[in-house]
Amino acid sequence: HRGLLGIAGLAPHEILFLLAEAEQWVELNRQPTKRVDHLHGLTIINAFFENSTRTLLSFEIAGKRLGADVVNMQAATSSVKKGETLIDTAMTLNAMRADAIVIRHASSGAVRLISEKVDCPVLNAGDGQHEHPTQALLDALTIRHALREKGLGESFVGLTVVICGDILHSRVARSNILSLTALGANVRVCAPPALMPAEVEQMRVTPFYDFNAALKGADVVMMLRLQNERMQGQFIPSPREYRHLYGLTLDRLALAAPGALVMHPGPMNRGIEIDSNVADMHMKNGEGQSLITRQVEMGVAVRMACLEVLTRKARKLEGWDMPANN
Ligand code: CP
Repeated sequence: HRGLLGIAGLAPHEILFLLAEAEQWVELNRQPTKRVDHLHGLTIINAFFENSTRTLLSFEIAGKRLGADVVNMQAATSSVKKGETLIDTAMTLNAMRADAIVIRHASSGAVRLISEKVDCPVLNAGDGQHEHPTQALLDALTIRHALREKGLGESFVGLTVVICGDILHSRVARSNILSLTALGANVRVCAPPALMPAEVEQMRVTPFYDFNAALKGADVVMMLRLQNERMQGQFIPSPREYRHLYGLTLDRLALAAPGALVMHPGPMNRGIEIDSNVADMHMKNGEGQSLITRQVEMGVAVRMACLEVLTRKARKLEGWDMPANN
């Protein structure tokens, strides 16, 4: 069986394939009636061991719009609270004969472990500091739509993307670095020194510690929140100092290329890593710079594409499938 554990196992053409598959669902989701029956009779379990708003709801909506039966397991109200192990939980979900399992977990590698214990495809909805592949796919789709809307084509080649914030703890940063570099973008990462990963030199990105310098000429600015729940004593500036040094304000945004696109995976801490007057400049008909609500919209389409592609084998359909090692 195959799953989507990360961007790391995907070739550029496979990333582009998933983006192409998602396009049809963007169109469907903009219609008054948004339902097809491709996954009729299939059961999808969303097992979330960590909090989520966007990812959980969009996987649920995605499965339902494709006609599947979708059930959500919230760890807080499950037998995990009574001490059941991850592997026993995985084997329990497997015994219910799910056709796909979507997992979010606070530990890096937990999703792979579960994928080795079950008989159906597993989709990584974010594991610790490791990967969040559907976030990177939805971010790429959002960028491509915005470029198209502005009449700038749809190629990532040569695009300068700045990812700023808690790079060390961010699975969103890791997956985006892998996908955007694979698609030909120039990626700059910017963080306080304590929140820059030691292995940054091996990541095919340019590291910056000065946000103003990182922003010069940038086409896309992707902001991340400080992940206080994953801090282990790192020295970080106070919220006020952080905004002063690394917050995306209107003045700072003016340092980027004219009309630079603004992104944030959410949840946002307004007034810390991003000011409200920047976050709320929503793009419409090619005007405005913030893509934050577009990212959420594209999230449903991307998750529909991933669920549909990954269940093709279960539906006895021929065609492209995820690589076996993913
Ligand atoms: N971007 C993202 O993963 O958001 P949630 O934590 O709300 O799912």
